[in-house]
Amino acid sequence: MTLLYGARHAAAQVLGRERARWRNLLPLFESFDQPPPGQRPGTPLDQLDRVFAAGGVDALLCCGPEPLMLASARECLRRGLPAERIWLSLERRMHCADGLCGHCYLGASYVCRDGPTYRYDHYLRLLRGSGADALPAAPGYC
Ligand code: FES
Repeated sequence: MTLLYGARHAAAQVLGRERARWRNLLPLFESFDQPPPGQRPGTPLDQLDRVFAAGGVDALLCCGPEPLMLASARECLRRGLPAERIWLSLERRMHCADGLCGHCYLGASYVCRDGPTYRYDHYLRLLRGSGADALPAAPGYC
């Protein structure tokens, strides 16, 4: 497993103790929109070359801003990873958290009840079933 962790800047990073532990267990690549002095800005997408070059990419498990997850999914698809091996953890503005209010719907699915984790091909089917003509834009990441 390889962990790609992106944050706007160092002060915005969370899970400090966990990251320190993970760093000892697996490859961990951190990126920043606004990096500390001496580092280049980037996103987790910028690390995909390294990860795919190392080979053996079986799956993508993603959480974070939806545009970044979608851009990551598209990039992994482009590199040959099947949609059935890509998982997204979605966030929605939830109110009832019990499938009653409809604030979190994704097509015929409720993220609070049926998610929040969706396989990418299921996500696309739900999105298309919702009447959306196109995938959401991924500004800044495509
Ligand atoms: S939060 Fe109300 S239906 Fe999901």
